Amino acid sequence: MKIAIAGTGYVGLVTGVVLAHLGHNVTCVDVDEKKVETMRQGISPIYEPGLEELMAANMERLTFTTDYASAYRDAEVIYIGVGTPEKRDGSANLSYVNQVIDQIAATLERDCIVVVKSTVPIGTNDKLEQRLREKLAHPVAVELASNPEFLSQGTAVKDTLHAARIVLGVESQHAEEVMRAVYAGLDQPMVVTNRRSAEMIKYASNDFLALKISYINEIANLCELLGADIQDVARGMGLDPRIGNKFLNAGIGYGGSCFPKDTKALHWVSNYYDRELKTIKAAIEVNDQQKLVLVKKARSYYDSLEGKKVAVLGLTFKPETDDLREAPSLVNIPILLDDGAEISAWDPVGVNNYKRFYPDEITYCDTIEEALRDADLCLIFTEWADVKALEPETFRSLMKNPIVLDGRNCFPVSKFAGSGVVYDSIGRAKVE
Ligand code: UGA
Repeated sequence: MKIAIAGTGYVGLVTGVVLAHLGHNVTCVDVDEKKVETMRQGISPIYEPGLEELMAANMERLTFTTDYASAYRDAEVIYIGVGTPEKRDGSANLSYVNQVIDQIAATLERDCIVVVKSTVPIGTNDKLEQRLREKLAHPVAVELASNPEFLSQGTAVKDTLHAARIVLGVESQHAEEVMRAVYAGLDQPMVVTNRRSAEMIKYASNDFLALKISYINEIANLCELLGADIQDVARGMGLDPRIGNKFLNAGIGYGGSCFPKDTKALHWVSNYYDRELKTIKAAIEVNDQQKLVLVKKARSYYDSLEGKKVAVLGLTFKPETDDLREAPSLVNIPILLDDGAEISAWDPVGVNNYKRFYPDEITYCDTIEEALRDADLCLIFTEWADVKALEPETFRSLMKNPIVLDGRNCFPVSKFAGSGVVYDSIGRAKVE
């Protein structure tokens, strides 16, 4: 099939490459000429494991362009994968989606299904369809379908090729048939429902996962006070299939471009209808507090952090991505700087992005060892494999005062027993 994709961020580009892999002819559209040129050379503008390899293998069916008219004009299916960032009041900003709809309306010359992959508030597909039909420049039959995205950054390709489910929100048999044909090459359970339910499935899923994380973080904080171990507790809970063992890792809170935005967006919608989503509100509040846990711990070790050298391991919101959106490092580091700490930070891929926020205030290190040398404290914000592979002896021998505050529970507590390192993690006993 001839497919166009609007937007080449995580959702758009990964979708485009996977659809090309399934044998479709795919044109990816982006407004950024430089980005388009990079992709034409087979280079992915985002760091995502396996994406460039899959791009290379399917280049003959992939076109990258800024010329949306040529892409949309005769496409059988057009995916919208542009961003829906959070507005100041917590609601979703739909201006990029609306812009694409207007471009499709102005250029489309054949019947087409327009698929919304961007996360949009419930009811948006209906409004977009109306907007599109009203503005169509040519007499063609168009219909919108909701097909929310469930990929995670860092495992996006795997998540798309082997998704737990495909959710299709359609209002006609024709739209269902077209979408089933698009995904014919994938053997995944399909949930076919109406558009509003599909839109809700996306928010309800992300918000439930965020809730699960905030729940386990609250239990972890209590474990610390009561002498219980959160990892044992989570294992004991997770073996119950009704609870499940995923997303029960306690830490310094969820970040990224999705959970923070989608919890606030659903909360905003319920407020709009004079309702309050009490559980989601709690998840948001708990997460805001949880992000500060490490800095609070840091302050408890010294009277003042003035002039103290603080090694930071990991800047990104999670491993295998260079994305900093809502990363706990962006909350903690400014506070540490205000406290007068000297920060030496290491991250394998996040440094260039971080320099946009803090070009000079931080010392960026090429190696973990360099960051740790002579440090008075070490804070772990991201569970990178290189961090998890460290031995207590590395901290002990390099740091001036080996105190490790681990916001991601990277090591078994037992590893630090008798090591000469103070190891303080989340929801587990402190090793002194
Ligand atoms: C999330 C969802 O997992 C995807 O299913 C969804 O498609 C995506 O949002 C989206 O809406 O586009 P993502 O934000 O890439 O994916 O990352 P996750 O792996 O879900 O992690 C989000 C945050 O939760 C990270 O900061 C991570 O460190 C944190 N987390 C995750 C925990 O603190 N504990 C856990 O047990 C799991």
